[in-house]
Amino acid sequence: MKIFIDSADLGEIREAAAMGAVDGCTTNPSLIAKTGKTQREIIQAIVEIVDGPISAEVLGTTYDTMVAEGRELAKIHKNIVVKIPLITEGLKAVRTLTAEGIKTNVTLCFSPTQALLAAKAGATYISPFVGRLDDASTEGMQLIEQIVRIYENYAFDTEVLVASVRHPVHVVEAALIGADVCTIPFKVIQQLAYHPLTDLGLAKFLEDAKKTPKA
Ligand code: G3P
Repeated sequence: MKIFIDSADLGEIREAAAMGAVDGCTTNPSLIAKTGKTQREIIQAIVEIVDGPISAEVLGTTYDTMVAEGRELAKIHKNIVVKIPLITEGLKAVRTLTAEGIKTNVTLCFSPTQALLAAKAGATYISPFVGRLDDASTEGMQLIEQIVRIYENYAFDTEVLVASVRHPVHVVEAALIGADVCTIPFKVIQQLAYHPLTDLGLAKFLEDAKKTPKA
């Protein structure tokens, strides 16, 4: 399973990349807004840190504006993936951008029917938001199971990119289901590496080592 970092914070991205944990990065307008910089400034910085797919989201909500924005975003770097919201105008824009060789990440997916249409439009990635479904008392990972099964049934090329991840269990379940990608906030990436028994064991090793004669 590929791991993308779900962040626009350059310090977080550098730290996660240094761990070797990062195969790509996803951003969204809320994450960009937190930086206080322009989307272009942030994306141009991220492509220098992460050698992999970098998702940058359009703000337009009509076919024409999404296609125009997507073409401009794609010019920033060869690794840019244009993030498009899962609305009918967005599906039309995905078809056009895909035909032009521009990679797309269809975002804000909350149902298997939405995911089916995104695949038929030729999306490179589909981003189902599991955390926000959980927040709405719906089992987010069941959607991932449904999408993976539907895509396997019909050999769709669209990659399942699990998004809105809230904790390590989402990551484990995504991997067990066979999702292609999981995009993970930095805080959760840090949690993936942590186990209290590791820390306890290391402390004991170091304590015991003090009793070992030095050469
Ligand atoms: O970036 C898309 C998705 O990961 C957003 O997650 O935490 O805002 O629901 P969240």
